[in-house]
Amino acid sequence: MLDTLTFGFLGGGNMASALIGGLIARGVPAGAIRVVDPFPEAQQRLARDLGVHAAGAPDAAFGASDVLVLAVKPQQFRDATEQLLPHLPGDGPGNLVISVAAGIRLQDMQRWLGGRNRVVRAMPNTPALSGMGMTGLAAPAGLSAKDRAIASAVAEAVGKCVWVDGDDQIDAVTAISGSGPAYVFYFIEAMQRAATELGLSAEQGRDLAVETFRGAATLAGQSPEPVATLRERVTSKGGTTHAALTSMEASGIADAFVRAMHAAAARGKEMGAEFGKD
Ligand SMILES: NC(=O)c1ccc[n+]([C@@H]2O[C@H](COP(=O)([O-])OP(=O)(O)OC[C@H]3O[C@@H](n4cnc5c(N)ncnc54)[C@H](OP(=O)(O)O)[C@@H]3O)[C@@H](O)[C@H]2O)c1
Repeated sequence: MLDTLTFGFLGGGNMASALIGGLIARGVPAGAIRVVDPFPEAQQRLARDLGVHAAGAPDAAFGASDVLVLAVKPQQFRDATEQLLPHLPGDGPGNLVISVAAGIRLQDMQRWLGGRNRVVRAMPNTPALSGMGMTGLAAPAGLSAKDRAIASAVAEAVGKCVWVDGDDQIDAVTAISGSGPAYVFYFIEAMQRAATELGLSAEQGRDLAVETFRGAATLAGQSPEPVATLRERVTSKGGTTHAALTSMEASGIADAFVRAMHAAAARGKEMGAEFGKD
């Protein structure tokens, strides 16, 4: 489906490069992809490494792309849409616009894009850079099934995706999977610290922790059983895992962790209001 479309990326940074690499790997010709990034070094890198057409500012050809992906930082988003707007097609159904900018709400994006309704808000995460991203997608009611399928395919070029209902649920996605890689890194750091305190090297601790996360996540992803069942199965009464989990429960780790994600969602909502004011 994607190989018949043209793409325009506004912003040529990390997330755009990951998505472009994913699209090309899935058969989209590099010649069908245009990127706009103000920095000549970025343009050169994109043209050299990915073979795409790179320019410093949007033009009519860029604005006519079937799918536009807005991949600038949230603070740059409003200015970037202002530069883009004059180059968007005035008549007809226009293009599908997908934003990956954290914290930019659908209604603000639509407003800044002159009231367009073929818009999607995507919340990817950093494992997208390794092709193992998890992206939450939301759109205004009425987005066609075809546009949803295109947005899903773009997100799936760098991993998996899930559709959710509007900006509030994107704040929840942000709190779980968007910020989630940092939580995993935090736990890996803690396991690494414990490893060194227990007499292993930092490197051994890192390998043990990283592979344990990878293995457990793979097992959980492949198993049809609830994660709680998988946990209970490795927690024999009186054993080592039981000792660790009892200690975690006594410290209120699960409750604190859940509270942390509520804090992330609340901050996401605040940021949406800040970026979208006026
Ligand atoms: N990286 C992630 O894992 C991740 C995860 C979830 C969401 N996101 C979202 O994805 C978006 C991009 O993130 P990123 O990590 O890819 O950032 P990034 O590497 O900083 O990329 C943004 C790029 O856009 C360029 N730019 C700035 N203003 C522009 C304009 N007016 N027109 C065109 N290009 C412009 C920037 O140039 P300068 O460097 O010169 O400013 C930069 O090269 C952000 O909104 C972020 O919230 C990223």
